[in-house]
Amino acid sequence: MSSDCGSAFIDLRAITKRYAGVTALDCVDFTVQPGEAVCLAGENGSGKSTLIKIISGVEPATEGTIHIAGEERTVLNPRISAAAGVMVIFQDFSLFPNLSVAENISFATQLSQHERFYKSGATRDIARKALDRIGVEIDLDARVEALPVAQKQLVAICRALASQARLIIMDEPTTALTEKEVRRLQSIIRMLKDEGVAVIFVSHKLAEVLEVSERVVVLRNGKKVAEGPAKDFDTQSLTYHMTGRDVPEVPPSDVTAGAETLMQVKRLTKADSFSDITFDLKVGEVLGITGLLGSGRTSVAKALFGLVAPDEGTIAVDGKPVPTGDPQAASQARIGYVPEDRLTEGLFLSQSILHNVAVGRLDTHSNRGLLDMGNLAGEASEWLTKLKVKAPDVHAPVQSLSGGNQQRVALARWLSRAPRVLILNGPSVGVDVGSKADIHDIIRNLATQGIGIIVISDDLPELLATCHRILVMRDGKIIDNLDGKSVTEDDLAHRLAS
Ligand SMILES: Nc1ncnc2c1ncn2[C@@H]1O[C@H](COP(=O)(O)OP(=O)(O)OP(=O)(O)O)[C@@H](O)[C@H]1O
Ligand SMILES: [Mg+2]
Repeated sequence: MSSDCGSAFIDLRAITKRYAGVTALDCVDFTVQPGEAVCLAGENGSGKSTLIKIISGVEPATEGTIHIAGEERTVLNPRISAAAGVMVIFQDFSLFPNLSVAENISFATQLSQHERFYKSGATRDIARKALDRIGVEIDLDARVEALPVAQKQLVAICRALASQARLIIMDEPTTALTEKEVRRLQSIIRMLKDEGVAVIFVSHKLAEVLEVSERVVVLRNGKKVAEGPAKDFDTQSLTYHMTGRDVPEVPPSDVTAGAETLMQVKRLTKADSFSDITFDLKVGEVLGITGLLGSGRTSVAKALFGLVAPDEGTIAVDGKPVPTGDPQAASQARIGYVPEDRLTEGLFLSQSILHNVAVGRLDTHSNRGLLDMGNLAGEASEWLTKLKVKAPDVHAPVQSLSGGNQQRVALARWLSRAPRVLILNGPSVGVDVGSKADIHDIIRNLATQGIGIIVISDDLPELLATCHRILVMRDGKIIDNLDGKSVTEDDLAHRLAS
């Protein structure tokens, strides 16, 4: 690989970025050649998103020099960077929730073409072309906030594709996508490369990283610790560079579930979404629900927590019926739900970590209307320690945390509420490889305390490491009910795909 920086599209030299008290990047050199696919790897909080924010002009570097397209950029902001051809798909997508799909996709393009008047025809046209390019069907007129998270992610990708980019940066573009969309994205990346467009790809799914990129750069604690052709790495060596240690494979779950039924779901049905969903959850059981995008798994999860109202069917906890379609009733029955889309749905970003964890705990910690803040802070920080949240202290705003650490705060909030039934949608989405095992450990531990846990996931090793039983969904129905101990990853993959 040539490292002729004269022709590099991006050339960063000795970049340091300091936030109050935190060195997010420490003297990092980083280059990207035209048409090159580079992967940025590193644990949560290692500085990946910070590097991207500097290239895209969202944050200024504290020290160092930046060249884009051969020109030194002493002043950089998102507009200058976009005009130079840098497009970013941010970790939280940064879409306009109350605008339509078409408007979101074409917005940047129309701006860059200096359109002074909003053209509805052009808007739809640009959006349609971008969607066609990746071959997905999304209603152009749907409001983005009403879309499932995977579709939001696809809209963010289309928006980047719609403009004349020379570099597309994808910060965890596949967290919400399943196998099929990931494959499609990989072929798009290949196509972009052939057209001379460079790609920077950030992901915690290491196998996928090695597949799409030709060069890998590894950050640890803000420093570049390894760099080289992707073919020189495998998931194990990549993990080693990221963490500085070998991470053992997760042993499969060995705790047995109780015999007592905790939650009973009967014939839950919603037109065009899911039908005849029937299962029991035992005390201390971890039950997996898996299926491809569109299989209905997230709708079922939401229905269990009252966020989706089923047309028919019943839910009971400890033999007592729980009114459906009513999240408050679900909460009262001590059902907890951790959404998949935690970065946009689950957190108050400008509020402190403590406040975010404490929301919803106010019942157990108030003393005649006064909050016992000392107690709350103590409990919150216990969970933050268990989940290894990297933060200076509990009073820091959540938006100053890295994406993966924000995910952990959302988890901590629900875990601290001590639910009886806990529904985890994508429990380790966006969390780095070293910490996944910690979260799986916590899930198994909670189960031994008698909590019934439902894990919605399409991460097969994760399901096998945590679940006693796995339900497979397709087209809104449960098609398999498998024993978590005896099923193999290949078998599960086969059932999902067929
Ligand atoms: N606005 C901010 N104020 C203070 N600290 C910040 C701010 N933004 C980021 N940081 C800190 O900078 C460090 C690097 O964060 P960054 O978001 O770059 O991590 P990352 O590698 O993208 O992690 P992840 O995989 O979790 O997304 C973290 O310690 C984070 O807390
Ligand atoms: Mg990040």
